[in-house]
Amino acid sequence: MERTLIIIKPDAVQRGLIGEIIRRFENRGLRMAGMKLIQVSKELAAQHYGEHKGKPFYESLIAYITSAPVVVMVLEGNNAVAIARNTIGSTRPVDAAAGTIRGDLGMEVGRNLVHGSDSPPSADRELALFFAPGELIDWTRDTDRWIFE
Ligand SMILES: Nc1ncnc2c1ncn2[C@@H]1O[C@H](COP(=O)(O)OP(=O)(O)OP(=O)(O)O)[C@@H](O)[C@H]1O
Ligand SMILES: [Mg+2]
Repeated sequence: MERTLIIIKPDAVQRGLIGEIIRRFENRGLRMAGMKLIQVSKELAAQHYGEHKGKPFYESLIAYITSAPVVVMVLEGNNAVAIARNTIGSTRPVDAAAGTIRGDLGMEVGRNLVHGSDSPPSADRELALFFAPGELIDWTRDTDRWIFE
């Protein structure tokens, strides 16, 4: 089953939106394989956002993601990457559709509340940065047969 890495970013944690954001993924049907509250180090932030190194917003992005604790989660399901991305909405909240997390709860690209992996290979790379294999749980949810075909 496909897995994706979700980060509930510092602004969402500071604003008390952890539960609201998890609720949206849970209601969608994604199954949780792991979750924890962590403080991201500068080193981990640089690894996670390596593709953006050199861009004008890189330094502020690293400052943002390390500014307060975050909640990291691994969610799974068929097409979990795409399902999570469209639940999250467009990168810039001004472009994000109403009904998405960023479209309903955000205003600014540098305060866009949540991260979701952009492809299955990115998800594999990212979840290995944040979780040891033993921290992820393989389980069957009683509702799986009503949600997964
Ligand atoms: N033009 C920009 N100005 C400021 N911050 C930006 C800009 N573009 C991207 N960012 C920040 O960098 C993050 C990573 O950018 P990316 O292009 O990967 O967007 P994304 O995949 O929608 O977001 P994420 O990777 O956080 O899920 C964005 O979520 C945003 O916080
Ligand atoms: Mg991205």
